[in-house]
Amino acid sequence: MNISSRNPTQTKSWKALEQHFNAIKEVEMSALFSKDLDRAQTFTIKWEDFYVDYSKNRITEETMQLLLNLADELKLKEAISSYFSGEPINHTEKRAVLHTALRANATDTVCVKDKNVIPEINEVKEKIKNFTHCIVSGNQKGFSGKAFTDIVNIGVGGSDLGPAMVVDSLRFYKNHLKAHFISNIDGDHISETLAQLNPETTLFVIVSKTFTTQETLANANTVKEWFLKAGSQKDIEKHFVAVSSNIKKVTSFGIHEDNIFAMWNWVGGRFSLWSAVGLTISLSLGFSNFESLLKGANKMDTHFKTEDFKTNIPVVLALLSVWYNNFFKSETEAVIAYSQYLNKLTSYLQQGIMESNGKSVDRNGLPVDYQTGTIVWGEPGTNSQHAFFQLIHQGTKLIPVDFIGFAESLFGNQAHHDKLISNYVAQTEALLHGKKREDIINDLISNKVPQDTIDRILPFKVFKGNKPTNSIFINKLTPESLGELLAMYEHKIFVQGIIWNIYSYDQYGVELGKQLANTILSEINEEKTSVHDASTHNLLAHYKSLK
Ligand code: F6P
Repeated sequence: MNISSRNPTQTKSWKALEQHFNAIKEVEMSALFSKDLDRAQTFTIKWEDFYVDYSKNRITEETMQLLLNLADELKLKEAISSYFSGEPINHTEKRAVLHTALRANATDTVCVKDKNVIPEINEVKEKIKNFTHCIVSGNQKGFSGKAFTDIVNIGVGGSDLGPAMVVDSLRFYKNHLKAHFISNIDGDHISETLAQLNPETTLFVIVSKTFTTQETLANANTVKEWFLKAGSQKDIEKHFVAVSSNIKKVTSFGIHEDNIFAMWNWVGGRFSLWSAVGLTISLSLGFSNFESLLKGANKMDTHFKTEDFKTNIPVVLALLSVWYNNFFKSETEAVIAYSQYLNKLTSYLQQGIMESNGKSVDRNGLPVDYQTGTIVWGEPGTNSQHAFFQLIHQGTKLIPVDFIGFAESLFGNQAHHDKLISNYVAQTEALLHGKKREDIINDLISNKVPQDTIDRILPFKVFKGNKPTNSIFINKLTPESLGELLAMYEHKIFVQGIIWNIYSYDQYGVELGKQLANTILSEINEEKTSVHDASTHNLLAHYKSLK
């Protein structure tokens, strides 16, 4: 495997970046703009329908050069080639990481252990296409002869977040089928959803790569029981399909082998929406929109693989994030999409980013002595401006923000769209410049505010500015551009994992809670007891006393 395992902080470039950081950490971005009239152009990447302006960052050309040197020193180019060529870069689990193969061209060759996986991907895609056609057209009907009206995706984590986010983000392009998502083991979630459904016209898509996830199996069993009150055991084959790599477990649950859509262990859950995990996407948007989503992702893959690092969008965004995380010691990053459609984007990215790079042991098995994965959060603009933006503007923490916006409004409401985009642009400008004492005084004087009031409120009105933002501006929200955007973040995650010398594709950290939940469940149900700390013991006893 062609991936370096060097501690990044021991490289020449890191040391140079440390020195450089000390020299420029107080520099005002507004001064850099005044000094260099070409700055915005120098730090803007135009690619396809993307316009990525990263000039409002606390960087100079030297910063970028040093960050690019770091990428070279840590052999990013070689790592990208290992990633795309199916080498087992998920080293701890001995697996390739090939969500990119799911959106490769049908005639490409991508090998896992010398076997070209593209033909089996094509086969599953064909199955998704045919199934989608049968359900959407109404040709395939439920047990009582009625066409399907509702689809319920049952899964959790990557088996839920991706499809749920895409279906919601692209609901402008949706067909007549109503999609529902049951993920939480909270019985109120499932009861509330089932209360809206008619078993005769509902199709259940059970998505679990492992088919062992407690939440999904519990929900699938409850749904099956509910269904069997109306339909027979035999009718299950008309109403239940599964997406999984565990054929044995799915068939023993009662789903016919023909109703299983395969996936593979070289697709990580949080990167799986491009596989049959995206079946609900295809069902509710139509197969051609699902294909366009894949096409967009594939375009971004090609950009990432072939573009010079200097103008490579995921590489540049990843390096900037390293700059803030490791040098400015920013703890979090925000993603603010100026589109209500992208309401679920941040929850989706949280899994991708935090499950991948939330690691504290390096590729040599040693504890890291530097920061790794960033905390990502956010909500759509403009709503978030009226919620947490105060802290971004005037709080004590430095929070780099990605602003995502689209030039076109889908319904064509231009007056609203102009207002939306003016807010997008205004926020990045306000974060850059802030508001200086002199300007505030002048404003207050021209508004005839008495001097004693000016003296009293002045310190509170000052915005320091100099807050970094990336403006990611895309022509239009379409299946294709959404595919490009999601793949952009996937590759950003990869680059950061390489730089931080961590393995981004396992998630052992979520296993402990799962194991303990099973032990505790048996105590709740079977009066067993095990040894716990006093707090856990009391909490359990309290719950049991109220049950
Ligand atoms: O929470 C851990 C995790 O393994 C995620 O990585 C994954 O997306 C989710 O659980 C669901 O897993 P499965 O698809 O196997 O049910």
